[in-house]
Amino acid sequence: MDPFLQYFDGTLCFGDKKRPLTNFVGTYSGPVYVYDLGSIGIRVKQMKRALPTADLYYAMKANSNLDVLSAIKKYGCGVDVVSLGEIHRALEAGFVPSDIVFSGVAKTEKEISQALDLSIHQFNIESIPELLRVARLAKENDLVAPVALRLNPNIDIKTHPFIATGLHENKFGMELSLLPQIEKVLKDNSASLSLVGISLHLGSQMLEFSGFRQALQLLVPIYQRLQLSYPNLRNFDIGGGLGIYYQEMDLQKENSLLREYAEVVKDELGKINARVQSEPGRWLVAHSGVLLTQIQYVKETTLKSFLVMDSGMNHLLRPALYDAYHSIIPLFHNSGRPIKLYDVVGPICESSDFFAKDRKLPEIREGEFLIIADAGAYGFSMASQYNLQELPKEVCI
Ligand code: LLP
Repeated sequence: MDPFLQYFDGTLCFGDKKRPLTNFVGTYSGPVYVYDLGSIGIRVKQMKRALPTADLYYAMKANSNLDVLSAIKKYGCGVDVVSLGEIHRALEAGFVPSDIVFSGVAKTEKEISQALDLSIHQFNIESIPELLRVARLAKENDLVAPVALRLNPNIDIKTHPFIATGLHENKFGMELSLLPQIEKVLKDNSASLSLVGISLHLGSQMLEFSGFRQALQLLVPIYQRLQLSYPNLRNFDIGGGLGIYYQEMDLQKENSLLREYAEVVKDELGKINARVQSEPGRWLVAHSGVLLTQIQYVKETTLKSFLVMDSGMNHLLRPALYDAYHSIIPLFHNSGRPIKLYDVVGPICESSDFFAKDRKLPEIREGEFLIIADAGAYGFSMASQYNLQELPKEVCI
């Protein structure tokens, strides 16, 4: 059983302080994400302990709830953003511009100009046209843009193809063969571009690190060579991507995964003259959020038993988009009930609208509640109002 979610006296309790999730039933007025800030703090501390020399820039696309962000700021992280919306939200949460790394392939003129005005920590540059655009806007405003080159080493980290980003078939980063051209742009614009870093992000939900190690081994000599010509080059940004175990939730296994990851970073970057930056998202927040949802109908057909919920792909897209697994747990423990096989589905008019297929659960009845676990990352942040359904609510404990 998930250590973040445990039954006490038949009631499901959540988080660091084991608060009963039944507290939310009395006031229930639709699906709600519940976040436990205490356990986010524990995860940040664990990661900082494992990577003592790295600065963490939380990838806020995973969860941009204001209270979650404020807590993460309080725990001493910066933030990795990918839009002006995220920049504004980060500032609202208490981050300062020097805490902000700006990633993303499609930075508009407006976004770049505002980020330049604010004087953010670093732009992670994804293409030569973007580098030229940043140079031009910096020059027009008499500013110097701190840039890091996001390099694409064409390495497979064996994750779902939709969240792999380090292959040449992906839109992310710049191929290493472009370095001579990139350096020409840097030289031609040396008054408006300051090369402060190189960066990589190979993809998300990484559960083994041979590709990650290979990428670091490829990039270190490039970093060292560039350092000879660019005196401001100090940051080595290793991106995010550390995975978690959704199916066999095991914190000990996850901690040894973190240690293995940290070993690779230490082996490959420990001896170079660099300030290591990391951009974790999922690992910090996934376990610290659950989605509480109510059964509207139990629908039996010749082939299936459907639990039709008031929440679906509109609130948690991961199962529909990546066939992702999330544990599903009844709010009340009914040990006397028979185990049945259910498809747990939502209200949306799409057959991809499911949380789980053929999932074994104790018999469930109309009006009861389920918890979708490990929904703190890429849950609410990917929610939509498709079918003009309301967005889910969010509360923190
Ligand atoms: N840095 C960059 C540049 C990224 O694009 C991402 C995630 C991260 C860091 C953080 O990666 P993490 O540590 O969370 O793996 N919606 C998908 C995940 C998409 C990740 C996008 N980029 C999912 O639900 O699995």
